[in-house]
Amino acid sequence: MKCRVCRGPAVIDVRRHNANFCPEHFLKLCRDQVAKAIEKHSMLEPGDRVLVAVSGGKDSLAVWDILLELGYEADGLYLGLGIDGYSDRSGEVARRFADERGLSLEAVDLPGEYGFDVPDGARAARRVPCSACGLSKRHLFDEAARRGGYDAVATGHNLDDEAAVLFGNVLRWQGEYLGRQRPVLHEGDGFPRKVKPLVRLGERETAAWCVLRGIDYVVEECPMAAGNRHLGYKEALNAIEERSPGTKHDFYFGFLARAADRFAEDVEAERGPLGTCTRCGSPTGAEVCAFCRLLERAGGHLPDGRTPGSEPTPDGPVPVALGPTRQGRP
Ligand code: AMP
Ligand code: FES
Ligand code: ZN
Ligand code: ZN
Repeated sequence: MKCRVCRGPAVIDVRRHNANFCPEHFLKLCRDQVAKAIEKHSMLEPGDRVLVAVSGGKDSLAVWDILLELGYEADGLYLGLGIDGYSDRSGEVARRFADERGLSLEAVDLPGEYGFDVPDGARAARRVPCSACGLSKRHLFDEAARRGGYDAVATGHNLDDEAAVLFGNVLRWQGEYLGRQRPVLHEGDGFPRKVKPLVRLGERETAAWCVLRGIDYVVEECPMAAGNRHLGYKEALNAIEERSPGTKHDFYFGFLARAADRFAEDVEAERGPLGTCTRCGSPTGAEVCAFCRLLERAGGHLPDGRTPGSEPTPDGPVPVALGPTRQGRP
């Protein structure tokens, strides 16, 4: 097996590109693919301050590492979600990565600061854990980005993730979600910009990036996600990809190029007037935002100790400025 670029000994094959690579040229391929995604989808400008949402897994540590390599100013944000031992182990790995490199990592602990964890939230909302988890994560990412004045929040979503989400949305023809499934969601209405710089890399590649760069990451998956629909979609797509390499790429990028715009009407139809949550000050279409409603049902409290239903104090959250457009969130 020889490297496509230098003909030296290759360590990895990338079937989608019908090529093998040595360590040096594989790392270059990954950096180039991320730079291309950022440029093509106008994710970031030189000099942007980026907040990277770091879970301790391979994807989010790889995206942080690559953004730094590409010269962006990037700090990390770790959310402790209170999931068995998994959250503690992920937090330790994320912290070690940051400490070893002298990087800044903010940690927000959901049970410590808000008085409830993801299992509590899932029970209270009578929904699958990933749904309470996703809602909490989005809220805390937005909140931390506003507080820290960051230009964008970057997550480690890769091509496998995005193709599987697209597959699920297509199976149910969820028009609003399809209209919002983009690698970049622009800022507006008090929501920060959200970017997914790894959309051109598969998870096998992000794992290889970490191994070749000597990055220790949490290999175990979240125990609460076991058996969920999303994993089933991933398995189905993996079986197809095995027979026809490149299918995931064509499915996802074909959708972005040829179909995503067709769902703009569905997004428009769901768009309502936006105000400010009376409890936490974040932008919402309702009087109380979905996170504060979840927090109330789960028996939690706001970080300043206010319990649900109490009025904001004069020192409470500052209302966010509202712009002309609303940012979409699946
Ligand atoms: P997931 O929804 O678990 O597939 O994660 C998608 C992305 O969300 C990851 O690549 C991270 O960027 C981010 N993320 C997930 N869990 C956490 C966490 N506990 N703290 C910070 N970011 C996270
Ligand atoms: Fe969210 Fe597992 S990380 S449910
Ligand atoms: Zn080479
Ligand atoms: Zn709120």
